[in-house]
Amino acid sequence: MSNRLIIAIDGPSASGKGTLARRLAAHFGLPHLDTGLLYRAVGLKSHQTGRTPIETAANLQTSDLANPELRTDSAGQQASKVAAIPEVRDKLLNLQRKFAHQPSGAVLDGRDIGTVICPDAPVKLFVTASPEARAERRYRELRERGGNTIKPRVLAEMAERDRRDSERAAAPLVAAPDAFLLDTSDMDADAAFAAALAFIERKGFRSSGP
Ligand code: DC
Repeated sequence: MSNRLIIAIDGPSASGKGTLARRLAAHFGLPHLDTGLLYRAVGLKSHQTGRTPIETAANLQTSDLANPELRTDSAGQQASKVAAIPEVRDKLLNLQRKFAHQPSGAVLDGRDIGTVICPDAPVKLFVTASPEARAERRYRELRERGGNTIKPRVLAEMAERDRRDSERAAAPLVAAPDAFLLDTSDMDADAAFAAALAFIERKGFRSSGP
């Protein structure tokens, strides 16, 4: 086994995978790619320009990932729709693989990192939580950002996106057979980080930092 640390993190929305990915990247001093942003950028840009999602994915620029609008729930819904198009996924494949296999190692989070993008990653985590726990988190996040939504609506939209991401034919959301399952329903971010770190250290990887 190569000792290059690639951490592949998959899971549904609001499972805590993004926070975990950022913390692990900081701990190990690794670059991090939130691959959901790629699909969000394709959805939003194709909507704004009228170009097809496939064409948009083929011409995606790093600067397209800096748009704050990408964080909204409607961008998430659009992302989930364009993400079901196999040719869109194909166009984004090399960029993600290249990021994963840079000499430093890397952390990537998404839906198909451990299954399609990096089936060879030495560390795979599948982060999940009950729909209620995830909807509660997303609801609080939206309220903090000033949105005025209601909880049943957040839960319904999340269920719709989960269904689309899990039932699509192309690279559906599914845990890799060798992934470490982390259910964060009753965990805060610190507990999730501690559990993931213990798993990674059991695999023989340690931070080289102070
Ligand atoms: O992680 P996120 O909520 O930002 O992702 C937005 C959508 O993008 C998600 O509903 C499905 C899609 N996605 C994907 O299909 N594959 C990935 N690796 C990441 C995201």
